[in-house]
Amino acid sequence: MPVQRRAVIKPAEGKLGVLTPGMGAVTTTFIAGVEAVRRGLAKPIGSLTQMGTVRLGKRTDNRSPKIKDFVPLAAIEDLAFGGWDIFADNAYQAAAHAGVLEQKLLDQLRDALEAVTPMPGVFEQRYVPRLRATHIKQGSSKMDLAEQLIDDITGFRERSGVARLVMVWCGSTETFQKAGQVHSSLENFECGLQKSDPEIAPSQIYAYAALKCGVPFANGAPNLTVDTPALQQLARERQVPIAGKDYKTGQTFLKTLLAPGLKSRLLGVSGWFSSNILGNRDGEVLDDPEAFRTKEESKLSALEQILQPELYPDLYSSMYHKVRIHYYPPRGDNKEGWDNIDIFGWLGYPVQIKIDFLCRDSILAAPLVLDLALFLDLAQRASMHGVQEWLSFYFKSPMTAPQLYPEHDIFIQLMKLKNTLRWLKGEDLITHLGLEYYD
Ligand SMILES: NC(=O)c1ccc[n+]([C@@H]2O[C@H](COP(=O)([O-])OP(=O)(O)OC[C@H]3O[C@@H](n4cnc5c(N)ncnc54)[C@H](O)[C@@H]3O)[C@@H](O)[C@H]2O)c1
Repeated sequence: MPVQRRAVIKPAEGKLGVLTPGMGAVTTTFIAGVEAVRRGLAKPIGSLTQMGTVRLGKRTDNRSPKIKDFVPLAAIEDLAFGGWDIFADNAYQAAAHAGVLEQKLLDQLRDALEAVTPMPGVFEQRYVPRLRATHIKQGSSKMDLAEQLIDDITGFRERSGVARLVMVWCGSTETFQKAGQVHSSLENFECGLQKSDPEIAPSQIYAYAALKCGVPFANGAPNLTVDTPALQQLARERQVPIAGKDYKTGQTFLKTLLAPGLKSRLLGVSGWFSSNILGNRDGEVLDDPEAFRTKEESKLSALEQILQPELYPDLYSSMYHKVRIHYYPPRGDNKEGWDNIDIFGWLGYPVQIKIDFLCRDSILAAPLVLDLALFLDLAQRASMHGVQEWLSFYFKSPMTAPQLYPEHDIFIQLMKLKNTLRWLKGEDLITHLGLEYYD
């Protein structure tokens, strides 16, 4: 069925600034990776925008351009980087501290990384109890802090000469929070900023500043952040796209690969036990019970949503699902995740699956930051705004319209993403029906 392009997509002219609150392991691995790709030292492996293709038309048409040649994305050469942190280390020092990339590679990129220095962050101890900040803003109220961030955004825009900006939250996971009265409307939120309401977390102040400046915002952590009526209202009013939350990497990524497969064959699951050890700063932050709770909620939700126990009570209604994260400094960023999965098949006979997943967490997250930055910028140039559900592919806890359940199955998410690109360009959507080949 042919579909009409919804809007003209403005060209990706000029530079795109990527602003990251939080310049730790993920951010520095992202920036260093982009620099390495620019210099021909590496390929952008793991990035759908750089390496992915999209099939157009019939299977017999043989049209599968690269995504970056199909939709007008900012070129990797046109990216500029800026950000904030609560420690003053530049991106070279922070990358060395994070210990993800080899020192030899960092030294080859040293000049570019040293040029990225963080602006002082907006911080509140109760939201990240394990870190002792040394590089932060002071303000008379949370509104004053938001205005300082707005000045930072404007200053960065002028200094760097970028034509457009996006903001991607790569800061630490904040302690668990549910949306309250102050998040129920933009009016209440702005009043809360004036009164420095304790329920307004730092990540929400960054998001507010971004949206006020018309800058798209993605949330890579499980924090509430833009997942509130107040900030979604602001995104709609300012016509800005937003997306979140919590990068889908590591163990949850594997869960969303495996669980749809088990369900497709109607295999039952009686238990899924996931345990992790990691020793980076993220692991230290998550060692705090309230920060872990935020992560736990995000990690638990995917499996229940995919398996749909309400539709398949015989298979999934008594599943026991447990997730544990242990801070173990000797491992640094080299995380290890174990999964023990108890499943059952024909006649209820038991089967077990064991996964031992060893990965550098940030290696999986860095290409997601790149893709989110480029796709959010595309969305804005195509006049899309509010929650961008088509970017669910990247998140553990995808944001949706209030009446919808999130789609967690990675294959459905990918189909949705590619169909959105086809729709943006007025190409036929692909349903995989395929009967026309047999007429
Ligand atoms: N690495 C992954 O695969 C992955 C996957 C999903 C989610 N995440 C999330 O992404 C975020 C970044 O992960 P990371 O491994 O880079 O962690 P990290 O600890 O290396 O980096 C986070 C940085 O944020 C800074 N920070 C904390 N509060 C801040 C604030 N209010 N303003 C500015 N900076 C602040 C910290 O000082 C730190 O440098 C974390 O929330 C993590 O849970 C990471």
